Amino acid sequence: MSSIRFPLATTTWDSHEYDAIQRVVESGRFTMGPEVRAFEEEFAASVGSRHAVMVNSGSSANLIALTALVTAPHIDLNPGDEVIVPAVSWATTYYPVQQLGLRLRFVDVDLDTLNIDLAAVEAAITPATKAVLAVNLLGNPADLIGLAALCAQHGLILIEDNCESLGASIDGKQAGTFGIAGTFSSFFSHHISTMEGGLVVTDDDYVHQAAVSLRAHGWTRELPFDNLVHPKTGDSFDDLFRFVLPGYNVRPLEMSGAIGRQQIRKLPGFVEERRRNATRFTEAFTGNDNVRIQQENGESSWFGFALVLEGPLSGRRSEVVRALTAAGIESRPIVAGNFTRNPVMRHLDAIVPDALPAADRIHDDGLFVGNHHFPIDDEIGILAEVFDNL
Ligand SMILES: Cc1ncc(COP(=O)(O)O)c(C=O)c1O
Repeated sequence: MSSIRFPLATTTWDSHEYDAIQRVVESGRFTMGPEVRAFEEEFAASVGSRHAVMVNSGSSANLIALTALVTAPHIDLNPGDEVIVPAVSWATTYYPVQQLGLRLRFVDVDLDTLNIDLAAVEAAITPATKAVLAVNLLGNPADLIGLAALCAQHGLILIEDNCESLGASIDGKQAGTFGIAGTFSSFFSHHISTMEGGLVVTDDDYVHQAAVSLRAHGWTRELPFDNLVHPKTGDSFDDLFRFVLPGYNVRPLEMSGAIGRQQIRKLPGFVEERRRNATRFTEAFTGNDNVRIQQENGESSWFGFALVLEGPLSGRRSEVVRALTAAGIESRPIVAGNFTRNPVMRHLDAIVPDALPAADRIHDDGLFVGNHHFPIDDEIGILAEVFDNL
């Protein structure tokens, strides 16, 4: 086993994060409190959204965002309705849709951007369709302008799973803010890291307040007196223990908020470095007929570098992965490949088209390598060399 020269992910923490943890330790307040609240405000400001709600993972962010939408009286999304999703995404993009009694309708992705195919979305709309759950894959914004227009035209709601694409934008508008709600992950390998963590952003006051309630038992405790979900009575004995929504407990720790505050300050620098690396990567692989690389839409924040094997390399992924591993380069599948080919599908109530050719190519011939918040010119050089030698 050779040593790792080009890892998938590296830490973005330094003394700022460790000091932030120590401040929480010294405060003695470990459960969700002022640091999480401050991080939410700073995060919302950084992405240009009115509200942000922090939870314990991006998966939980998807769960509470969708629950907030299904329970919102002013939003037409109810059990039995269809939600259009791309065939390539992470597992917990899909599970909450199923868990809330909605029906997943899978559509293919675009092989160049790796994101949901706008024409396929349009063709998949039925009278039962109520929402599109777009995913911005590997830092690359989906065609969010096209999707928003299509949703407006058909009276559908647009939701964004932006767990892989913090810092991405289209025409200066941040990915994750194009729909009624957007979700983010701050898991270790992502653009910012609280180790585990996630956020929901929204401009909708009801969805915000519902998410706050759903995050903690479905009670009203953290809501203002005259909130939109269920106004309080003024009797604190009752107000602390009144349950109004079928919620969860997906609260983050106070330390996660404190760490997030340090990380979000560093985000512009991280994204700048990732984009610089992307320029090197794109230069190294443009014109190489043996691989197809991800084509940027808008301004990607470049989570990692995707490669779909083409021509003579097509069908030879195991061999490529062996060569990469031998050169000390970590790689992994493009998210979860064609998700509909996973065994878990037998537990999901989903509508799957007969053919998903782009998702299949990604499933069979796709892989990605890491990007980092520091220059990786040498690592990209080694990667290009491996492909030259194959
Ligand atoms: C598209 C997408 N959605 C959701 C998630 C879940 O995030 P988390 O790992 O924080 O639960 C991920 C995980 O990386 C993801 O890639």
